[in-house]
Amino acid sequence: MIRSIAVLGAGTMGHGIAYAAALGGFETRLFDVSPEALTRARASVEAIGAKAVELGKATAADRDAALGRLAFGSDLGAAVVDVGMVIEAIPERMDLKLSILQDVERQAPPEAIVASNTSALSITELSTALTRPQRAAGMHFFNPVHKMKLVEVVRALETAPETLDVIEDVARRMGKETVRIRESPGFITSRVNAMIGNEAFFMLQEGIASARGIDKALKLGLNHPMGPFELVDLVGLDTRLSVLKFLHASLGDKYRPCPLLVQYVQAGRLGKKVGKGVYEY
Ligand SMILES: NC(=O)c1ccc[n+]([C@@H]2O[C@H](COP(=O)([O-])OP(=O)(O)OC[C@H]3O[C@@H](n4cnc5c(N)ncnc54)[C@H](O)[C@@H]3O)[C@@H](O)[C@H]2O)c1
Repeated sequence: MIRSIAVLGAGTMGHGIAYAAALGGFETRLFDVSPEALTRARASVEAIGAKAVELGKATAADRDAALGRLAFGSDLGAAVVDVGMVIEAIPERMDLKLSILQDVERQAPPEAIVASNTSALSITELSTALTRPQRAAGMHFFNPVHKMKLVEVVRALETAPETLDVIEDVARRMGKETVRIRESPGFITSRVNAMIGNEAFFMLQEGIASARGIDKALKLGLNHPMGPFELVDLVGLDTRLSVLKFLHASLGDKYRPCPLLVQYVQAGRLGKKVGKGVYEY
């Protein structure tokens, strides 16, 4: 049974994963190359904990115990030595991920499970950094990790079934629900979401309804918590376009990015982060 987890990368995803792991009872080490990222991560984790106590989702004692199980550091060797499982959450670049997994291979116990939170890269390709790819799989969390229930558990070409069992057990102890899938571009959620978002842009382009109208229809008629344009403004139109380009290249023409989306990105309307996307903020 896994008792300790090293989370690599203390950014948007890594700090949330580390907090969920600590709350789930794991001795957790959060590693980052950047001391500033670790300082920010510590502040974010403390804020999430304070909010959870305020909302009655965790007792102060549980929160304090979780924070007590969480260590921050920028020494990879110290983070992965004698660890049961590694969850990699560093930037979405194959070269960076391969390099850190090669270091993990040298410094972590040979039986440690290695999971990657990649949104789109091939786990099969990432696993080439390991001498035993059977112990690697995808573990795709959602943002913000402390609020989102799902983890997609991704089986790569060589992943052993026991590795998936272990990852599912860890996810459950972190309070998450899992869906097991075979490695495929966009997994389940990104693929469906990109499709809905793209279709919404085609409808807007065809003048079928206004953006507000399309958002209202999906929220009130299909019970989506957010409309597709509200969501893409949050995700970033540039991010959505790059996902669509990737799905188009790997899965075919039905994922061809809508020309109106391309135009919005060309115009710099990238979403909430720049103050305007489909809507103005
Ligand atoms: N942001 C999301 O909504 C989201 C959702 C699901 C999955 N993901 C995936 O999670 C991963 C991380 O994304 P993020 O949004 O948290 O990124 P981020 O940029 O917020 O954080 C990445 C962190 O990794 C650190 N880092 C960079 N190189 C490193 C190295 N060699 N070793 C250790 N740390 C290093 C950076 O200092 C930074 O703190 C990516 O693969 C991304 O595709 C992101």
